Amino acid sequence: MADNKPPRLFLSPPHMSGREAGHVAQAFASNYIAPLGPQVDAFEAAFAEHTGIAHCLAVSSGTAAIHLALRCLGVGPGDLVLAATLTFVGSVAPAAQLGADLAFIDADRASWNMDPERLREALEFFAKQGRRAKAVIPTDLYGQCADYARLLDVCAPFGVPLLADCAESVGARYGYDGIGGPGRHAGSWPGLAASIFSFNGNKIITTSGGGMLASADAGLVARARKLSQQAREPAPYYEHVELGYNYRLSNILAAIGLGQLETLEARVAKRRLISHWYAEEFAATPGLSLMPEVATGRANRWLTVVLIDAEAFGATPEDVRLALEAENIESRPLWKPMHMQPVFAGRPVFGGRVAGELFARGLCLPSGSAMTRDDVARVARLVRASGRGSAE
Ligand SMILES: Cc1ncc(COP(=O)(O)O)c(C=O)c1O
Repeated sequence: MADNKPPRLFLSPPHMSGREAGHVAQAFASNYIAPLGPQVDAFEAAFAEHTGIAHCLAVSSGTAAIHLALRCLGVGPGDLVLAATLTFVGSVAPAAQLGADLAFIDADRASWNMDPERLREALEFFAKQGRRAKAVIPTDLYGQCADYARLLDVCAPFGVPLLADCAESVGARYGYDGIGGPGRHAGSWPGLAASIFSFNGNKIITTSGGGMLASADAGLVARARKLSQQAREPAPYYEHVELGYNYRLSNILAAIGLGQLETLEARVAKRRLISHWYAEEFAATPGLSLMPEVATGRANRWLTVVLIDAEAFGATPEDVRLALEAENIESRPLWKPMHMQPVFAGRPVFGGRVAGELFARGLCLPSGSAMTRDDVARVARLVRASGRGSAE
């Protein structure tokens, strides 16, 4: 029997521009089929140019970049690391794997990102115990930058470095340049110790899998570069005084990244348009609202997230997810907060109610940059139809 289902509509599939193949062909022609080579160098340089972050290290994943950054910040067994609870596990797993004591910070309702006041509460709580965090890791959730300036203000008196998890915010902006235009690229704000980015297959631009560690601190990135190459000492033979990792990005994958980076601004514009279309579609539906965009920057709208008031709307996020799934459309609950994860049971959390509520009420909708207006209308029609009182 023929399968009449329409092709699956994914949450955020890769979107190739056609330019990637040329860069990959060049990589093949040079025979740098290796985790080093001209395309890796060019990708790092292009990313530095695009973001305005002076030193960039291309690595095999965003998680690897966080791991390296934490090593460079001196995080080890028993050290305190504070992280956003509303995030993906890759943001915090490296700290746990280094033996650090993780504590989680709630989201604020306005931005869904790390709440600076909850962070202050946590830093003061631990200071009273004579403990100072080795790092604070805010996440730029779904492509909206955390409030770096406020977080830095909170961290400054405690002397704690901020490591920005910009895995989801490639192409987003933060701050304003004083003449009304969007300010600096995500993760490039002065005062951040380092920032990490992800080019996983589901991100706004992808290398199929990959990441970047970026910092204004040349020394930090140089040390991370060494650690990412098995911590080899500068000698003709393999000499090691410490242990590192095999975390470099393949030259072939960097070639894909070069092609993708050329399209980044167009991809951001399209994802923002998709979000705008969803907003139009849901404007008159009681109980539906989108993740808010705060005035401190310009989100890349990597994923459009709808918040569902089940009572007003007449259906739960899970009802909607199942209705979309029945039509072969992928949607996904928000990240389950880290303080609710069995693996982190018993870890301290400062607040936690906001993240818990957002998890219970939110749903990530298909947001791929190849979507058409008709695709969005179809998804939105199905969403609305699963609610109460719909005429559709
Ligand atoms: C917030 C966040 N942090 C970290 C990561 C880890 O990145 P990667 O998958 O490249 O390891 C991701 C995404 O995958 C993420 O969404």
